[in-house]
Amino acid sequence: MKYLSFRTALLALLACGLIAACASPAFADDAAATYKSKCTICHGPDGKGTAVGTKMGAHDFASPEVKAETDAQLTDVITKGKGKMPAYSGKLKDTDIKDLVIYIRGLAK
Ligand code: HEC
Repeated sequence: MKYLSFRTALLALLACGLIAACASPAFADDAAATYKSKCTICHGPDGKGTAVGTKMGAHDFASPEVKAETDAQLTDVITKGKGKMPAYSGKLKDTDIKDLVIYIRGLAK
């Protein structure tokens, strides 16, 4: 009995993991988690900017200004910082920053 319930739980866990892995590429999971923990305070979950963030000068990621910037420019802002935007070089890997740019473009749609 004990063994059976353990196995059922294990199977359920495995199935959930598989569905999650199929539903979204791994990078999106990582970028979403990083964004949520490090960026939402200022940029908001939807990238529109929180009261605090917009007061500091953050732009809506869906605004024409941000959309007009190249991926390289956005990467630069995240890596080196700009104005009140903190620099993340040394705190995040280059690949993480690259994934974040893709994630931000996704928010801007
Ligand atoms: C303390 C608040 C704060 C945090 C935390 C923060 N940002 Fe920003 N961010 C800003 C501000 C303010 C700007 C505008 C800088 C400027 O143009 O002077 C900005 C600008 C940007 C831009 C350029 C587009 C724009 O809005 O002008 C990108 C891209 C960006 N941030 C991404 C991120 C990512 C990714 C993270 C998390 C790793 C993050 N930011 C964390 C405040 C923040």
